[in-house]
Amino acid sequence: MKQPIGIIDSGVGGMSVVKTLLEYEPEMGFVYLGDQARCPYGERTKKELLQFTSEMIYYLIQQYQVSAVVIACNTISATCLNEVRQRFSLPIISIVECGIAVTREHHLKPLGIIATTKTIASHIYQQQLRDYLPQAVATPNFATYVETQTYDLTDISRALAPLQEHNLQALLLGCTHYPFLATEIAQVLPECQLLDPAVGVIQEVQQFLFPTNRQIIVTTGQESQLQQLLAKLLPEYRFSIQQTTLEPYPS
Ligand code: DGL
Repeated sequence: MKQPIGIIDSGVGGMSVVKTLLEYEPEMGFVYLGDQARCPYGERTKKELLQFTSEMIYYLIQQYQVSAVVIACNTISATCLNEVRQRFSLPIISIVECGIAVTREHHLKPLGIIATTKTIASHIYQQQLRDYLPQAVATPNFATYVETQTYDLTDISRALAPLQEHNLQALLLGCTHYPFLATEIAQVLPECQLLDPAVGVIQEVQQFLFPTNRQIIVTTGQESQLQQLLAKLLPEYRFSIQQTTLEPYPS
């Protein structure tokens, strides 16, 4: 039997990637794992990120024999991708590599980049996209805004104020939670084209996608809370949600 792909994030953010993939292959087999009990990841140490990520991937391999894993978390991808790829032999798809590829297809500059503190501090996007005259700003509260649904337009506007004066042509959403704030971000920066790395994931996972009825969402947080959140963020879908506790990764 063909196996599902695994998709991981600190919380609900990676579901923006799932949405993009489902638009391409509505019946794709996948297991999504959101580590909501330990979300946000945006200011975690590299050691913590490597540990948490290893626990998630190990779980997906042990429980679901996934064929590949999409790291739908820029913070993990920007911080410890090489170490994760060394630990696991299955294909690991990085949302940051997809974000770089998607941006290069557009040739829009100057380019704004928003992401978590850790992703911006890694400089990975700024270095790889330096030809696009990047203006990078950390927006550390945005992931929590999405998880808790407690924010208003003023919060978004204040955080994006440093980008206002740069006449940006495009804005890279360097955190998978941010597509869920796209309406508000577009209101604050109306001239900017928003770039979502998720579209680049399609090409990378195409070979692992096949129709099946195995579409599973797992959270380390509370099922009922995630159910409510997904009903708000992705009302067009109905998912079955399970709760789990992750075991320490055997080192
Ligand atoms: N959604 C994640 C990212 O793409 C992590 C956000 C967070 O937990 O701070 O970076």
